[in-house]
Amino acid sequence: MILHHLEQEFVATPKKIVSTLKVPAAMTVPDLAEDVRKNLLNAPYSLPPKYFYDHRGSVLFDQICDTDEYYPTRTESGLLNRYCQHIIDQLQLHHIIELGSGTSRKTRHLFDACQLLNHCPVYWPFDVCEPMLLQTAHELMMQYDWLDVQPLEGDYSAGLSHLPKPDGHSLYVFLGSSIGNFTETEAIAFLKEVRQHMLAGDTLLLGIDRLKDHGVLESAYNDAQGKTAEFNLNVLSVLNHQLGADFNQAQFTHQAVFNESESQIEMYLQSRADQLINFNDLDEQLHIQDGEKILTEISRKYSFAGIGQLLQQAELEIVDHFEPSNEYFSLVLARCVE
Ligand code: AVJ
Repeated sequence: MILHHLEQEFVATPKKIVSTLKVPAAMTVPDLAEDVRKNLLNAPYSLPPKYFYDHRGSVLFDQICDTDEYYPTRTESGLLNRYCQHIIDQLQLHHIIELGSGTSRKTRHLFDACQLLNHCPVYWPFDVCEPMLLQTAHELMMQYDWLDVQPLEGDYSAGLSHLPKPDGHSLYVFLGSSIGNFTETEAIAFLKEVRQHMLAGDTLLLGIDRLKDHGVLESAYNDAQGKTAEFNLNVLSVLNHQLGADFNQAQFTHQAVFNESESQIEMYLQSRADQLINFNDLDEQLHIQDGEKILTEISRKYSFAGIGQLLQQAELEIVDHFEPSNEYFSLVLARCVE
């Protein structure tokens, strides 16, 4: 009896995923050293936002999502919760492929809907961080015993052409308004790339932050707890660790402002003094004057009509456009223009 019981338990434990499928870069992207040499040593100073996300940066980003001011995460989550069944029900899905999956927190709404409606697609989370992919895959297979998870390791900004193209209908998922980090030209190019990878009958689910009251926007990037400031300043310690730089966080101030003509939040680190920063591993120096600023992130905000134009320019057709009553965020389901 006891043995039988133990055996049952053993059989019921889902198999653990031990490896990810490595997706080779389709185009070469600059590394941190190259980005620093190109954009940080001479004015106008800037850095791509992808370097925010070391372990501490990822923890801080999660904390930002829990602040009262940062509405995008909970608004998108609410939309997913409300409309997922409707979305899953109309698609005969074999695959869910998520670009930049992270901890797949919001994607669980999709799996809940699949479970309820008895659809069993394969989940392909695509992310740069292998430990997070493995941990998440394991947790998901424990929670959803029917779910087959195939983790894909790679950088979506290095191209999508080497991603698998599995048979059957796929839903591509790009959430969190990550598209806001791209300029409009880059966003169109990226969406075109997704579209080129899509087969007939495939769809794309996109989360995009909306243009709104400037006070609401600026508060979201200037939370009272100072989490966004910590997150922004943390990129300096990434530079210190990875390039042997000697930034002092106390010598910079977090700044986030809405640029109306560009329709984007711009995050800066503003120097509080005339400073000389050494990059020991690069044998380079940065001279930055008191008041000068480093652009660390753009976060574009789109109007309802702007989203329509964006997708149209990428030759994607909107199937469904979901928004909450305050119109703070959009969840868009799109397919290729025939
Ligand atoms: C993950 C790029 C969508 O732009 O709102 C949050 C990142 N930066 N607070 C955003 C972020 C500061 C976020 N995205």
